Amino acid sequence: MDYNEILEKARGRVAPYCKACPVCNGIACAHNMPGPGPKQPGNGAARNYEAWQRVFVNMDTICSNDAPDTTFKLYGHEFSLPVFIAPVGGVALHYGDDYNDFTYNDVIIPAAAECGSAAFSGDGVDPEVMKRASATMAQLGGMGIPTIKPWNIEAVEEKLDILNSRGIFAAAMDIDGAGLPFLKAMNPNAGSKSVAELSEIIKYAKMPFIVKGIMTVRGAEKAVEAGAAGIVVSNHGGRVLGQTRASADVLPEIAAAVGGQTTIFVDGGLRNGVDIFKALALGADAVLIARPFVTAVYGAAEEGVRVLYAKYLSELKDTMTMCGAHSLDEICADMVHVGA
Ligand SMILES: Cc1cc2nc3c(=O)[nH]c(=O)nc-3n(C[C@H](O)[C@H](O)[C@H](O)COP(=O)(O)O)c2cc1C
Repeated sequence: MDYNEILEKARGRVAPYCKACPVCNGIACAHNMPGPGPKQPGNGAARNYEAWQRVFVNMDTICSNDAPDTTFKLYGHEFSLPVFIAPVGGVALHYGDDYNDFTYNDVIIPAAAECGSAAFSGDGVDPEVMKRASATMAQLGGMGIPTIKPWNIEAVEEKLDILNSRGIFAAAMDIDGAGLPFLKAMNPNAGSKSVAELSEIIKYAKMPFIVKGIMTVRGAEKAVEAGAAGIVVSNHGGRVLGQTRASADVLPEIAAAVGGQTTIFVDGGLRNGVDIFKALALGADAVLIARPFVTAVYGAAEEGVRVLYAKYLSELKDTMTMCGAHSLDEICADMVHVGA
């Protein structure tokens, strides 16, 4: 099955809000929440996508003819490619009843590991979601990255107790979930974390801790100060705040400020191996991709995940070959051009 056939199968299953578009560019789903669209004014996902279209790759094939090596080392583990499945929660609400948070994670976590990658799992109001996701990861030697919402410290530590006991590879927090109404309604109140609180959480975690939802140099510096092993440059696909800058636009300045001090991931509108190459050239170490994996799962379950990873791998290798990069470390700013 190829990717277009998978999309064809997904269409209808992910309806009414997601249209399983040939390119997931945030246009058909603008304003659709529930659904995969962004918060008002509704253009956050499309702007993320468009920002990558303003980055061009510089072709240069006068170089040695060695095969490109896409292997990526992270926290002592070697992955086949620098691409991870981003966390998605509320799957049934946003995409329809064929899957829910449990069954979606049941598919992506093992399938990502099988492809030499890893899935970030989402968190939600039901604590059982993270318990089951981390149990699945434990069966895979801990491979996966549960993403915890910024609950109050006691609730976060309770979740980390489970992850610590299961030998999970890495944990994350979508710190930009701070404004979500269900967190604000909690008692004790949940939401934004100070550097001291974040530092306490990171120290409590026995595994590398990644902070997702960084959109400014200052935010990145604070995450590093708190001890984050990684940051995800991400605006949550525009779902938590309208009118932020695109992730591609803030990535270079964040990479200039904290590159080398923490692992830099980026997400938002990356849709093929050329985009992945551009992200690495602009300073990311690796990328996360969310929505295309959801449609792939609704279309063809584990096979959908495998097909999408194979597509990204082949496109990334092709771009590396055509731009003269033989390893991920060789991908650099000179290999892209931002602008017309
Ligand atoms: C329906 C939906 C639910 C999401 N749930 C979460 C979540 O629980 N935690 C999180 O950190 N990000 C969540 N995200 C954001 C994604 O992880 C990702 O940051 C965003 O979609 C941008 O990537 P993309 O353009 O590849 O989809 C969600 C996104 C969507 C569309």
